[in-house]
Amino acid sequence: MPFHLTDEQEIMRAAVRQFAEAEVKPLAAVLDREHRPPLETIPKLADLGVLGMTIPPDYGGSGTDYLSFILALEELARVCATTAVMVEVHASLVATSILHFGDQAQKTRYLPELAAGRLIGAFALTEPGAGSDAAALTTRAEVDGDDFVLNGQKIFITNGGFAGVFLVLAKTSPEAGSKSISAFLVDRDRPGLSVGEPERKMGIRGSSTVSLLFDDLRVPRSALLGQLGQGFSIAMRSLDGGRTGIAAQALGIAQGAYEEAVAYAKQRVQFGQPIARLQAIQWLIADMATDLEAGRLLVYQAADLEDRGLPFSDVAAKAKLFCGPMASRVTHSALQILGGNGYTEAYPVERMCRDARITEIYEGTNEIQRLVIARAALR
Ligand code: CAA
Repeated sequence: MPFHLTDEQEIMRAAVRQFAEAEVKPLAAVLDREHRPPLETIPKLADLGVLGMTIPPDYGGSGTDYLSFILALEELARVCATTAVMVEVHASLVATSILHFGDQAQKTRYLPELAAGRLIGAFALTEPGAGSDAAALTTRAEVDGDDFVLNGQKIFITNGGFAGVFLVLAKTSPEAGSKSISAFLVDRDRPGLSVGEPERKMGIRGSSTVSLLFDDLRVPRSALLGQLGQGFSIAMRSLDGGRTGIAAQALGIAQGAYEEAVAYAKQRVQFGQPIARLQAIQWLIADMATDLEAGRLLVYQAADLEDRGLPFSDVAAKAKLFCGPMASRVTHSALQILGGNGYTEAYPVERMCRDARITEIYEGTNEIQRLVIARAALR
């Protein structure tokens, strides 16, 4: 049974698809080739309301349900995975964390700016020694008078090259473990913040991925997000929603590659007929279509559970665990159907193959999703 979307969700999806076709798709190969973020798209995404979908109208957002936001991510990723992840980190990891855990002053200060795209958000959790083991982070935030002073290093920070605000996880007490971690909202213009050179990556090449160095970076107490020691929980809660977002990104990449493969198979003639008439190709297409439908149900279910206020951590992890590898499978099958042409930059499928791979890694590897799922199953 297809997942039932409301008329509003269908209308919103159609609007984002139209926008993505007109404004995002033409840039996708350029961003990839030039390793540059889609800065010119940010005001347009804000005008369309996409940057503020997770932000209520009281704070200047378009305040849709989470499933609508997920549909928007899927549509963006269908044509440009780079644009999708920029939006996902900004609107999901950062904006929803401020919405759920921020005080009134933080919400008033940041959310309207994030919705309008005047500020882009970045989420600074990962460190050289703290990837999958996120609680092992060593960046410190020490109290000094009315301030916290941050020292440490973050790596692989999406949007970091141009973000205006960073959600930074740092240790506020010397003990080991998650209770020693707090979250801070750090403005880009703070003295003591250095931003490294962008990583040269296999895929999502337009996405800005940088390291951050905090050298006696001073923030006021008002920069603390949530309670002292609540940072790890905030990060985990944000990543639950974020994982549905990355699953939607994977789904969108796979959908884009599938459509390319179907169109190609219908017009490519070999052995005197379109290759779509060959059973070898039909079986590939059938498996791709089945993979997509299964992934879509999981992703929408995770978003729907979140919208209904029900537990969704394990379903989000399942959606990501299924859709990441699924996107790798589907993009590789698409490339196989396109043959030699698929291996060239004349078609977007080689880029989609490269873009898909990261969805099995960031916001928790496949292995970490299995850990989250198994813990829920065995509780
Ligand atoms: N929501 C709220 N709180 C949660 C939670 C959740 N989903 N999951 C755990 N917590 C809380 C726990 O309740 C626990 O608190 P109590 O002690 O009070 O019970 C505390 O957090 C510690 O939990 P765990 O014991 O489960 O922690 P752990 O050290 O075993 O780690 C983990 C769990 C799932 C492995 C976690 O470290 C993890 O998710 N690792 C992967 C990190 C990751 O996803 N990084 C992504 C980086 S951001 C990114 O990729 C963005 C981008 O670029 C696109």
